Amino acid sequence: MTNKTLIELKGTSTQMLLEVGELAEILHWGKNIDVSLPQSRLALQRPVPYGRLDDDIAMSLSPELARGLFSSPALEGHRNGLDWAPVFTISETIHYDNQLTLVSEDACAGLTLKTELQLDQHDVVKVRHTLTNNKPGAYQVNRLANTLMLPERAKELMTFFGRWVHEFQTVRQPLLQGGFQQENRRGRTSHEHYPAIVAGTSHFDEMTGDVWGFHFAWSGNHRLRVDVKADGRRYAQAEVIYLPGEVALEQGESITTPWLYASYSDRGLNGMSQQFHEHVRHSILPSEFSSKPRPIHLNTWEGIYFEHDPDYIMSMATQAAQMGVERFIIDDGWFKGRDGDKAALGDWLLDETKYPNGLAPVVEHVNKLGMEFGLWFEPEMINKNSDLYRAHPEWLLAVDSYQQPAGRNQYVIDLQNEDAFNYLFERLDYFLSTYNIAYIKWDMNREVVQPGHEGRAAGYEQVVRYYQLVDKVRAKHPNVEIESCAAGGGRIDFEVLKRTHRFWASDNNDALERQSIQRGMSYFFPPEVMGSHIGASHCHSTRRRHAIEFRGLTALFGHMGIELDPVKESDVEKQGFERYIKLHKSLRSLLHSGNSWRLMTDDKAHQISAVVAKDKSQAVIQIAQLAMPTNSLSGHLRIPGLDPKARYQVSVLDKPALFDDIVNYQPPWMEEGCELTGEWCEEIGLTMPILDSETAVLVQLQRI
Ligand code: GLA
Repeated sequence: MTNKTLIELKGTSTQMLLEVGELAEILHWGKNIDVSLPQSRLALQRPVPYGRLDDDIAMSLSPELARGLFSSPALEGHRNGLDWAPVFTISETIHYDNQLTLVSEDACAGLTLKTELQLDQHDVVKVRHTLTNNKPGAYQVNRLANTLMLPERAKELMTFFGRWVHEFQTVRQPLLQGGFQQENRRGRTSHEHYPAIVAGTSHFDEMTGDVWGFHFAWSGNHRLRVDVKADGRRYAQAEVIYLPGEVALEQGESITTPWLYASYSDRGLNGMSQQFHEHVRHSILPSEFSSKPRPIHLNTWEGIYFEHDPDYIMSMATQAAQMGVERFIIDDGWFKGRDGDKAALGDWLLDETKYPNGLAPVVEHVNKLGMEFGLWFEPEMINKNSDLYRAHPEWLLAVDSYQQPAGRNQYVIDLQNEDAFNYLFERLDYFLSTYNIAYIKWDMNREVVQPGHEGRAAGYEQVVRYYQLVDKVRAKHPNVEIESCAAGGGRIDFEVLKRTHRFWASDNNDALERQSIQRGMSYFFPPEVMGSHIGASHCHSTRRRHAIEFRGLTALFGHMGIELDPVKESDVEKQGFERYIKLHKSLRSLLHSGNSWRLMTDDKAHQISAVVAKDKSQAVIQIAQLAMPTNSLSGHLRIPGLDPKARYQVSVLDKPALFDDIVNYQPPWMEEGCELTGEWCEEIGLTMPILDSETAVLVQLQRI
């Protein structure tokens, strides 16, 4: 029998206990406890029932069919039909602080598997594998998956789904025999199958229950599963979906999986989200910009679409600056021949018929007004009606002899083609070197079908090359910030965020829809990376109309902006934009550094979010009413996370214009304010106001 050692990885309030021998098994992943008693391990020995293999088979970090585990294996591959059932034995264990690296070998198959596992002080664990082929002859990798075990009390799931203009929707389901599997084959992170999942104890909710959240940091095809084995053991697994034949390792070559991030919380979903938010803030986001306040945007897209007139754009900028905007972004429509969405992608030259004096006067005007300048690009895309395509039809990411379907009239460029890659870098570099551009909106508006490079599948490598292109741009222009956009929220994940600064959450600026989109996004992302703009009163994607107060408050907590043409707006609307911009600036440092909470409500009609300062000195709470409440009174607003013994002054910062119309009177605290202890706020709370549907109120608590 091989020696086995227990290894503890400790976060601030959670812990992972592993047993490492021939293989590595997670024995405990939950609360921090004392596991030092030498006999404790005995308590976890499993019995072996009849009707199975004769020995107990551990569920390891890399399940293997050939050990008789019958789970979804970590590795599926072969060397021309051989070496297809490897069994790895750990040959080296490197453990320091909270990092564990295990090197496992299968000498017969000629393979080495390195597994890295790290738990950080924010209680987020990450795991990945690197597979190396040591023998002559290409090793075809069909699958290479990251696996983390879950305890049997994980009985319920929260999963994500969505579509264009309807991202980050959540659904609850029991975790039953057969488990759950989600596949994304759309070539980008996707609106439909955002790569995250939460497992938890029955009825886990925002405040209570044990939850284990998983996020797979990959911007392409993926498979996520949470399996329940016939014996009740369960595990979560995440992997890239490799297309046939696309990963073949020659002798000495390796492949590393993306990181699977995970976090356990015994404080329900809020606890989990707060851990992920801190991890994102400290370990994912590029650190250079962490102390810079996030500038208020004006993005031209929904204001002017493809109608670009520099004088007019400069008048938009002037008005934007007057309202307090800090960064002005010219969206799609500025480059040669781009008069609509049918042509010109790929032709990254300024449209001189639209901009006869060049772009410089516009950039200078924007800068003179004290704003940063930003520009839209969609580097990976090409229209067939473009000079680029006419010159280089071979740059298409496609397979010859097959018809490649168009998406928004466009096609994808093969980034493995060196000339194409270099051309795109040169074009981006040219604009960033020529103009004072502080920010680019990097879009990707279509899904990827039959990605082929020189006839071979290239879905995986296309994503790797995309990362490399962004990295190359960032290395040359480290002060330029990047937004990741893909027809709204189609490319939102931790791996993109390591090289970008914010996401465009959705093309849907309807405040009502945004409430649910932003809530869904908040499970794994802090508010400051969520681009949230005030759109026109008549929403372009749903045709709904909302008052400025609801639009303003809905955009308030994220990385705020305006997405309309200020020149055409009424004075009343403009005063509204100015008010919410000012309000956002006054709260920005709190909103973008504090602990976010999704509050439990007594009536489903409401959605309530709060941000509490890290030092508990203040909090803001947004009460949004999305539909008609069931009862005529809506219960209490309870606010967690404050200092229980401290006293707080409660006041209303913002409310709908028509607030008192349909009531005899609102709760008096709304007018007069009141003083409460943190304990009172959490346990008893305040009576809810009476609101109309699709309106919101902003409440502030300040420690006295
Ligand atoms: C996508 C983006 C929009 C806008 C357009 C421009 O749809 O999500 O915000 O940039 O492209 O074509």
